[in-house]
Amino acid sequence: MSQQVKGVVADGKGAPVRVETIVVPDPGPGEAVVKVKACGVCHTDLHYREGGITDEFPFLLGHEAAGVVESVGAGVTEVTEGDFVILNWRAVCGGCRACRRGRPWYCFNTCNAAQKMALTDGTELTPALGIGAFAEKTLVAAGQCTKVDPDASPAAAGLLGCGVMAGLGAALNTGSVTRGDSVAVIGCGGVGGAAVMGARLAGADKIIAVDINDHKLETAERLGATHTVNSRQSDAVAAIRELTGGFGADVVIDAVGLPETYRQAFYARDLAGTVVLVGVPTPEMKLELPLLDVFSRGGTLKSSWYGDCLPSRDFPMLIDLYRQGRLDLDAFVTESIALDEVEQAFERMHHGDVLRSVVIL
Ligand SMILES: NC(=O)c1ccc[n+]([C@@H]2O[C@H](COP(=O)([O-])OP(=O)(O)OC[C@H]3O[C@@H](n4cnc5c(N)ncnc54)[C@H](O)[C@@H]3O)[C@@H](O)[C@H]2O)c1
Ligand SMILES: [Zn+2]
Ligand SMILES: [Zn+2]
Repeated sequence: MSQQVKGVVADGKGAPVRVETIVVPDPGPGEAVVKVKACGVCHTDLHYREGGITDEFPFLLGHEAAGVVESVGAGVTEVTEGDFVILNWRAVCGGCRACRRGRPWYCFNTCNAAQKMALTDGTELTPALGIGAFAEKTLVAAGQCTKVDPDASPAAAGLLGCGVMAGLGAALNTGSVTRGDSVAVIGCGGVGGAAVMGARLAGADKIIAVDINDHKLETAERLGATHTVNSRQSDAVAAIRELTGGFGADVVIDAVGLPETYRQAFYARDLAGTVVLVGVPTPEMKLELPLLDVFSRGGTLKSSWYGDCLPSRDFPMLIDLYRQGRLDLDAFVTESIALDEVEQAFERMHHGDVLRSVVIL
């Protein structure tokens, strides 16, 4: 058995996305069908549409979502019909070498649904990050559903499903930002803005937001930045050094993912400091750095997949902080849109007008 719903499909490199009828199979063993309530538009969806991630078109886009479990397949115990859940793209396997060593946030064998969603002509769809939630309903592995407090607004909760979690975790988990640290964040969209918020949550002393768009810098100040730098108007490295006694920041987070921004992060960091790359580069990008500088500046160069989060640990905890008024997830929701407005949301993302557009279903 299966059912038909509406979903947003990208069927060719750079081609505008379209709302299509999607066939969603009933959940098999270990799977769940989720009624999507809200799904944020992440820059990674645009990377998918532009063929920057894989070329397995057509994609069913959307991966930053919250919803309600409609039905579960055989053997599913972690969630049940009616649970309010955030969808995650790190359903840990429990058996890979990372999981077995007690580091499940690095799981190398994460689970997705075994069955495929498809177009009505039978063409199989590749769900973005194994989720595909710009759709009225989606089929996922049950482990991709993390149950959280149903009082949370779906639009805000869903953001923890990708970008906001990635940014918070880049600061808190990967960068290990702590009290008194100086932190610079390059690129202050949904991900970078959340990194700013994570740095504040951790007690960072100086939080320098860098972007090429003044609107984003204003928002970053609301999210906790103590200083802002427009890197179109001034040199980011010089500005960050000047704001940190001439030395550079303890932790610099690149939430753009270009060779240019990575180089800025590398040189805007104090000796023995940490660079965290959370922005996603495209396959053709290359980085050139003097190897002697990599050596002599010391410290740590890290990449952050999904903020090194463990959904079962981090989502309920962050939703609690949100409900206590200590984590303003609502601040990321710039606008609510309908399923057929995702293409326009990509446009606005290009122009830098929004932190997050969220599809409400
Ligand atoms: N690592 C992960 O797990 C993970 C998760 C989600 C998203 N991402 C990636 O993070 C990146 C940011 O995603 P987002 O959703 O926040 O995107 P976004 O489009 O909302 O924000 C990007 C920001 O970067 C700014 N920017 C662009 N070029 C810049 C430059 N040269 N210097 C300074 N600022 C610049 C833009 O003005 C914008 O404010 C993307 O590459 C996305 O794919 C990574
Ligand atoms: Zn694993
Ligand atoms: Zn994302």
